Amino acid sequence: MELAELMETGEQRLMRTYARLPVALCRGEGAWVWDTEGKRYLDFVTGLAVTSLGHAHPEIVRVVREQAGLLLHTSNLYWNEPQTRLAKALTDHSFADKAFFCNSGAEANEGAIKLARKYAKQNYGPHKTKIISLRGSFHGRTLATLTATGQDKYHRDYEPLPAGFAYAERDDAAALEEILDGQTAALFLEPVLGEGGVFPLSREFMLAARNICAKKGILLVFDEVQSGMGRSGYLFAHEAYGVTPDVMTLAKALGNGIPIGAVLARGQAAETFAPGDHASTFGGNLLAAAVANKVVEIMTQADFLPQVREKSAWFAAELGKLARKAGIPGQVRGMGFMLGLPVGESGPRLVEECRRRGLLLNCVGGDTLRFLPPLTVSRAEMETALEILAGVLTGRETAGGE
Ligand SMILES: Cc1ncc(COP(=O)(O)O)c(C=O)c1O
Repeated sequence: MELAELMETGEQRLMRTYARLPVALCRGEGAWVWDTEGKRYLDFVTGLAVTSLGHAHPEIVRVVREQAGLLLHTSNLYWNEPQTRLAKALTDHSFADKAFFCNSGAEANEGAIKLARKYAKQNYGPHKTKIISLRGSFHGRTLATLTATGQDKYHRDYEPLPAGFAYAERDDAAALEEILDGQTAALFLEPVLGEGGVFPLSREFMLAARNICAKKGILLVFDEVQSGMGRSGYLFAHEAYGVTPDVMTLAKALGNGIPIGAVLARGQAAETFAPGDHASTFGGNLLAAAVANKVVEIMTQADFLPQVREKSAWFAAELGKLARKAGIPGQVRGMGFMLGLPVGESGPRLVEECRRRGLLLNCVGGDTLRFLPPLTVSRAEMETALEILAGVLTGRETAGGE
């Protein structure tokens, strides 16, 4: 299909849930993707923090092929070895004791909300049901996770929303102490707010959250759907804070493009669900779990995460220099390869101009350019991205334009 026909048919036949850019991508390799017209782009969106090992990673391709030829899916009525191995790998490499697998970030958070409510009811009584999250947070699009998402613009049109949710201010520890009351079952935090504009939480706030939750019998849940799986330079962003949750949710990069989500929990919280309480037909099926095992194996090799920290520190510093040179007053924010640069309302225009010149970025919070390169990106590729961005910010033409 030609691009024009593809777009016209899509407008007619797909629900309009996304404002899409006029481009269709059809092939990828490492940090690069190609569109249907043959143009090549450096991919600093990575499917929204999903393809962290890059496109068509040979090891991932091999596992997909092998597992597809063996067995894709059986349901969770039976044991499956890739899923059990994945639960072991994730719990060996984290604070958690047990895992539950599903298909997406929203589904993982939905599972964590259910876990928290049941845990609180079992341990403290039926009054303790409230879920607290942050203003500006993002936890998903199902009704419960949409309600946990602390942004009014996503709530409009969907009332009545599920009851029992309230919001705290980011980095305001004193207010948190008050809002986490005797009715609260869980506090959901993204260690680095992603969709809300790339804001790492302060260490003081994370520590206060940990202390208050422990004191008041509240589960501390870290939504690491975006910040997890190496994106922060650590396998999980909370490791950088030295603050351990009771429950953590994962998705996105866990399958490097094959849909999979996870709820991880420790201690008594990990024992909450009994057969019949919670389930997912596809959750942790053989294909998704086999791929996720490979992702965990690659990311936990000794030099992988140190390299991510080193490369991302260099890129953040260079990005900061470039922004200063271009007269952008905002500071680079973020952790590891989850970086944001506030540029004001020109964000969407800059994204489109970067795309025209061969660099894919996106804009979050309406005013922040977000950089999510593959964790495997090379120095030369980062230099190319910076060069394209410099050209866009200064209005200078660079190679790669249409
Ligand atoms: C922190 C966080 N939680 C949850 C979600 C929802 O994940 P999904 O789109 O896989 O449902 C996202 C998606 O951007 C996210 O960034």
